[in-house]
Amino acid sequence: MGSSFKAFTVFENQDGSFSSQIISKNIDDLPKGDILIRVAYSSLNYKDGLSASGNKGVTKKYPHTPGIDAVGTVEDSSHSDFNDGDTVIVSGYDLGQNTSGGFGEYIRVPKEWVALLPEGLTKKESIILGTAGMTAGLCIRELQKKNGIEGKIAIVTGATGGVGCLGVKLLSKLGAHVTAVTGKIDSGDFLKSIGAVEVINRDQLAEYFNHPLASGKWDIGIDVVGGKMLAGLMTCLNLGGSVACCGLVGGSTIETTIFPYILRGNSLIGIDSGNIPISEKEEIWTLFANEWKINLNDLSRTITLNELDQEIESILKGGQVGRVIVSLGE
Ligand SMILES: NC(=O)c1ccc[n+]([C@@H]2O[C@H](COP(=O)([O-])OP(=O)(O)OC[C@H]3O[C@@H](n4cnc5c(N)ncnc54)[C@H](OP(=O)(O)O)[C@@H]3O)[C@@H](O)[C@H]2O)c1
Repeated sequence: MGSSFKAFTVFENQDGSFSSQIISKNIDDLPKGDILIRVAYSSLNYKDGLSASGNKGVTKKYPHTPGIDAVGTVEDSSHSDFNDGDTVIVSGYDLGQNTSGGFGEYIRVPKEWVALLPEGLTKKESIILGTAGMTAGLCIRELQKKNGIEGKIAIVTGATGGVGCLGVKLLSKLGAHVTAVTGKIDSGDFLKSIGAVEVINRDQLAEYFNHPLASGKWDIGIDVVGGKMLAGLMTCLNLGGSVACCGLVGGSTIETTIFPYILRGNSLIGIDSGNIPISEKEEIWTLFANEWKINLNDLSRTITLNELDQEIESILKGGQVGRVIVSLGE
């Protein structure tokens, strides 16, 4: 094992701005932990964009290496649950927030953050899913429990983004009729190719939000946008319908009335994929390796550390379509 490795690292400059560089770091300087992992792939999530641009709600101290997802091979384990050579995935917890993350060739983390990759998922498939897939999966599992999926009329916001496109694809595989909401007017063909039956422009959707109890249109929804979009969606659900919410790209405040909840029995279900116990994450990875197996090849592009800056700029503007995978040697 070499003692130095390459890592995309963000620096806080004296004038308060932030900039990045690919630097050489030392394995001995990684935080203490049970499992040392040689990273094969990471992926780009919205939260990585926040960390890389100096958002102190995500990352308190710089210099810092972001990357909330990593899949790779165990190189050193101080715990009997993991052996050298095991293929493992880490997503969420503190990885890439205040713990050196997957945009470096090595990470060292507590064993409670690590899942063995199930048979039936390659490293690349698992990272195309990553935190985005974990989150879409958790949303869908909750909707499944409350409403069922097959035959339901579903809506997904931010549909071309990471959580969104995986949500569209999985809901469609499980038999829902999916409306995809997007701000990218030229993405209709892509969204239909991954299973959407209807594509609505983000601005057009606002026309439906015309009353505290507008006419019911959808049974279930996944929302990554928050703000007015989520508040509006809650007015348009059918009797007993539910929305699983997980994101805030459009705002963190929602103004809603009590009517959808008490007159239609609607539910707003909150999803946090970062901090749930690893056993729950293992269940979701196993579902993706089996009953939820979907073709992921049409959902991703692979880049290197050198290309991260421009991709980070794009995700922060809501400009990404599908998933961006970062290759660190495979
Ligand atoms: N709770 C959790 O555990 C959890 C886990 C993962 C992610 N998240 C959150 O979920 C959100 C999405 O994450 P992601 O990684 O999927 O990001 P992403 O790939 O950037 O996708 C977000 C998508 O939302 C749409 N969008 C962007 N800005 C918007 C705006 N101002 N108003 C309306 N729509 C907008 C865009 O899609 P269109 O152009 O197609 O509309 C964009 O591609 C983020 O807020 C993230 O922090 C939460």
